[in-house]
Amino acid sequence: MYFSTSSLALLASAPLAALAGKPSPGLDTLAKKAGLKYFGAATDSPGQRERAGFESAYPQYDEIMWKSREFGQTTPTNGQKWLFSEPKRGEFNFTEATIVTSLAHKNHKTLRCHALVWHSQLAPWVEETEWTPEELEQVIVDHITGVMGHFKGECYAWDVVNEALNEDGTYRSSVFYDTLGEDFLKIAFRTASKIDPDAKLYYNDYNIESPGVKAEGAQRIVRLLKDEGIRIDGVGLQAHFVAESHPTIDDHISTIKGFTKLGVEVAFTELDVRMQVNATEKGLVLQKEAYKNAVGACVQVCGCVGVTIWDFYDPFSWVPPVFPGQGAALLWFEDFTKHPAYDGVVEALTNNTGKGKGKGKGKKRSVNLLEGY
Ligand SMILES: *[C@@H]1O[C@H](CO)[C@@H](O)[C@H](O)[C@H]1NC(C)=O
Ligand SMILES: *[C@@H]1O[C@H](CO)[C@@H](O)[C@H](O)[C@H]1NC(C)=O
Ligand SMILES: *[C@@H]1O[C@H](CO)[C@@H](O)[C@H](O)[C@H]1NC(C)=O
Repeated sequence: MYFSTSSLALLASAPLAALAGKPSPGLDTLAKKAGLKYFGAATDSPGQRERAGFESAYPQYDEIMWKSREFGQTTPTNGQKWLFSEPKRGEFNFTEATIVTSLAHKNHKTLRCHALVWHSQLAPWVEETEWTPEELEQVIVDHITGVMGHFKGECYAWDVVNEALNEDGTYRSSVFYDTLGEDFLKIAFRTASKIDPDAKLYYNDYNIESPGVKAEGAQRIVRLLKDEGIRIDGVGLQAHFVAESHPTIDDHISTIKGFTKLGVEVAFTELDVRMQVNATEKGLVLQKEAYKNAVGACVQVCGCVGVTIWDFYDPFSWVPPVFPGQGAALLWFEDFTKHPAYDGVVEALTNNTGKGKGKGKGKKRSVNLLEGY
């Protein structure tokens, strides 16, 4: 994680050098000026972090997460997932999730809620049982009713179905798909639309940020639901990137437009950009470009409503445990100094030369959605 601050200074770009010494107005402040609804960061409850081997108290972290203007939105990283929210059939547990959601309310952060139907971090009882289609349908309906109903009115958006696709765009094998076929998507979205009519209903996946068969698979899901008259409001681009091989801004723009043309909004929902650690200058430069491309595309395309990074502090990232030898994926180093990529995000959010949504045009997002045609 460590990277010396003196060599980092060399990476600062000219316009930002002019800002040196001035406190940043905060990424969320800049995002709103650029016409987005929010710039946010996912976060976990201290209990979940402790379970992962961290201390429970991180005052400096809390200051940035809750008190600064960096983030106007948050997503509970884990607490609302099935494993934690319905660990036994019919026994709901909102303890961990509520720690994050109540902090969000107290500190006036928009909430994205995550994730109702997902094959991973699923409670074992769901996978261990041989269900008939009718039984599993009831299990899904009960889960969505219980969890979404509990947080009714609190969430700007819900990830209703997460990661239903394989890399080739076909449906992923899971207890849901194997038992119900694509009906599981219809059941999930139909139920969600009844339980919280005000929440935006999202399909969320990774590797759908560039044109290709998997992004087409996600478009197919949008059409499948819309053709049946079932509400889907958004597609979440998770955006877990690798510094060395990240998508171009044009890739992002054409993918986002591919979705908005279908009449749904888009958000970057879990953005991070990993690299080999210890981070090298080259890695950090590529990372800056990756962040800038994603955020810049979101600013430029009407219908892209916001960007969420998957936590903001490197030690709390999901990357190091899952990809050994990789990390430094977020915007704050272990010592709470900022990555050069932070400046990349600022540049993308303040790129007023573009024909983007521009200053102050953020209020009319739902109308702007149609401009994608
Ligand atoms: C609910 O979850 C919390 C936090 O993980 C745990 O301490 C508590 O025992 C759980 N409650 C029940 C009834 O299992
Ligand atoms: C990474 O940097 C830290 C801090 O300077 C150092 O202790 C560690 O040995 C380095 N690791 C590698 C693999 O170079
Ligand atoms: C900045 O605006 C220019 C002009 O519209 C555009 O070509 C470029 O892609 C934008 N850059 C970013 C990072 O948004």
